[in-house]
Amino acid sequence: MQSVTFKQQGYLLLENFISSSECKQLMQRAAQIVDHFDPVDHTVFSSKNQQSTIDRYFLDSGDKIRCFFEEGAFDTNGQAIVDKTKAINKIGHALHELDPVFNAFSFQKKIAALLDNLGFANANALQSMYIFKQPKIGGEVLPHQDATYLQTAPQQVIGLWCALEDATIDNGCLWAKPGGHQVPLKQSFIRQGNNTHMEIFDHSDWDLAQFIPLEVKAGTVIVLHDKLPHLSHENRSSKSRQAYALHVSHGDSDYLGSNWLQRREPFPRF
Ligand code: FE2
Repeated sequence: MQSVTFKQQGYLLLENFISSSECKQLMQRAAQIVDHFDPVDHTVFSSKNQQSTIDRYFLDSGDKIRCFFEEGAFDTNGQAIVDKTKAINKIGHALHELDPVFNAFSFQKKIAALLDNLGFANANALQSMYIFKQPKIGGEVLPHQDATYLQTAPQQVIGLWCALEDATIDNGCLWAKPGGHQVPLKQSFIRQGNNTHMEIFDHSDWDLAQFIPLEVKAGTVIVLHDKLPHLSHENRSSKSRQAYALHVSHGDSDYLGSNWLQRREPFPRF
């Protein structure tokens, strides 16, 4: 049943999938990671400003735990204008592998069973991101398809977007185009050595009127098809909108060498 709905609309909302104690545990752990992070070694992450931000810090983060700042955390002179604990955009990209708390959460039975139900038994865990969507300065994420950034042959990737706090229109919830996963991939983010570029197949703009808000309660998991167009607006509210996103590929698909995320070791598997 779940897989039929998923195939039709390109996403699923699974309410109460995560307990409130699990949400709290992940949030506490993320706060500890930020607390231990030394901001000397930092980069600003913004999907609007790719060329200046896709640097080695980002490109080498596929098998590491690294913190990325919000663009709005600095003034025009590059001086921090908010406290470190409120300035991090996200942590990526191997929390699921390297951090004991996120590892136990990510590979637990109920997630493996969900992936199994969706036809993704023995999936490869490709990347994880802890997204803060900080109050007042949480940046927007432009409309995109996740397959632009994670490609396999055949193309079979899904995202599990776990709401750890209530996500509302006010604090920058996800918006998606129902059924939009049926359209071909619009663009492909390609890595060649330490350079990246965006290959564009379709120059038309997304029709934002076709996107609907996915307002969800803390504890909901949103399953995202890799071609589902989605976005999130800036968070100008006083509430954060923390979420943990895990992307997996089908166990039978090959991971492409042109993906931005490359690593020496094989991906951990379910
Ligand atoms: Fe995405």
